[in-house]
Amino acid sequence: MVVDNKATITYVQLLKEDLVIIRMVPKDGPVPEYLAGQFITLGLPNPVEGGKIVRRAYSIASHPENRKFIELVIRWVRKPLPGRLSTQLFNAKEKDEILWLKPTGRALLINETLPNGEKDTRRIVCIGGGTGLAPFVSFAQHLHDTGDKREIVVLHGASYVDELSYKELLTDLENESIAKGKEKWNFKYRAAISRPQEWFNRSWSGQVGRVETFLRPRDNGMSPLEELVGETITKENTIFYVCGWQGTIDGVMDFLKPKGFVTEHDKRSDESFEVKYESYG
Ligand SMILES: Cc1cc2nc3c(=O)[nH]c(=O)nc-3n(C[C@H](O)[C@H](O)[C@H](O)COP(=O)(O)OP(=O)(O)OC[C@H]3O[C@@H](n4cnc5c(N)ncnc54)[C@H](O)[C@@H]3O)c2cc1C
Ligand SMILES: NC(=O)c1ccc[n+]([C@@H]2O[C@H](COP(=O)([O-])OP(=O)(O)OC[C@H]3O[C@@H](n4cnc5c(N)ncnc54)[C@H](OP(=O)(O)O)[C@@H]3O)[C@@H](O)[C@H]2O)c1
Repeated sequence: MVVDNKATITYVQLLKEDLVIIRMVPKDGPVPEYLAGQFITLGLPNPVEGGKIVRRAYSIASHPENRKFIELVIRWVRKPLPGRLSTQLFNAKEKDEILWLKPTGRALLINETLPNGEKDTRRIVCIGGGTGLAPFVSFAQHLHDTGDKREIVVLHGASYVDELSYKELLTDLENESIAKGKEKWNFKYRAAISRPQEWFNRSWSGQVGRVETFLRPRDNGMSPLEELVGETITKENTIFYVCGWQGTIDGVMDFLKPKGFVTEHDKRSDESFEVKYESYG
C-alpha cells in the first residue's frame, strides 16, 4: 500500500492564469533528500471521485542544497478537460495540505563520470520546453552551489514571454558568471519564443521559434547555440539534457543524430551517450 506523506503549501506565486510556482514544506520531518533532475509525486483526494487520491509527478525546480522547501512550477491542464490534479493544485492556497511521495527519477541525473571512469567535463546544455525547464532550474542552482567548473548553458522555450518562469534567477546566474569570470562560474541562459507574431510577444527581440531552433545552423553554418559558446558542438565536447514534449526531444534529436549523438536510452555497447531526456507526451 502506498503511504503518502503530508506537506504544507507555504508559497503560491501565480505567474499567469495557468502557470504557478508552489513551495511546500513537509509536515513531519525535514525536506526529503533528492538529486537535481528528480521529480516528486504529489497527491490530493479528488472530491468528484469520492475522495480517491489522484497522484501525479512534478519535476523539482529547487535544488538539493536548499533544505528549506521544495519548489515546483505547474501548468494548469485545461483542455480538452480540466486536469484532475492540476486543477486542484490551482485552487490550493498557502497553508493548505498536500500529499507527497519521496522524490525519484533517473532520466535526468547529472552525469559525473564517463564510461572509462574519468570525470565528465563536457559542456552541459539543458533544453527545457515550457515547464520542462524545472529540472534545469534545479541543475543550475545545484551546479552553482557545488562550485562546478563545467560550462553550463540553459535554453528555455515558451509560447509567450510571461511564461519565461525563471528568467530573473537564470539571468542573475549568467550575470554572476560574467562578473566572476568563467573560470569560477561558467553559465549562460537564453530563451526562445515560439509565437513571436502574437501581439503579447511584441517586445521580444531574442530567439524566435521553438527551443530546438537554437540548434539549427544559420547561413554561416553555425547554429545560435554554437555562436553563443563560440565553437562547433561535437559529441566529444557537449552533453545535452532535454525535458519537454516528445516533439521537443524529437526536434533536438533531428539536429543531433546526424552529428552522431546518441541518447542514454540507446547508449552504445561501450556505455557512452551524449543526450539524456525526459518527455511528457
Ligand atoms: C516525470 C514527470 C515530471 C513532470 N513534471 C511536471 C512539472 O514540473 N510541471 C507540470 O506542470 N507538469 C509536470 N508533469 C505532468 C504532470 O505529472 C501531470 O501529468 C499534469 O499535471 C496533468 O495532470 P492532471 O491530473 O491535471 O491531468 P489529467 O487528469 O491526468 O489529464 C491529462 C490530460 O488528459 C485529458 N483528459 C482527462 N480526462 C479526459 C477524458 N475523459 N477525455 C479526454 N481527455 C481527457 C486532460 O485534458 C489532459 O490533457 C510531469 C510528468 C512527468 C511524467
Ligand atoms: N518532466 C516532465 O515530464 C514534465 C515536466 C514539466 C511539465 N510536464 C507537463 O507538460 C505539459 C505541458 O507543458 P507546458 O504547458 O509547459 O508546455 P507548453 O507551454 O504548451 O509548450 C512549451 C513550448 O513547447 C512547444 N511545444 C508545444 N507542443 C509541442 C510539440 N508537440 N512538439 C514540440 N514543441 C511543442 C510550444 O510551442 P508552441 O507555442 O508552438 O505551442 C512552446 O514553445 C503539462 O501538462 C505539464 O504537466 C511534464
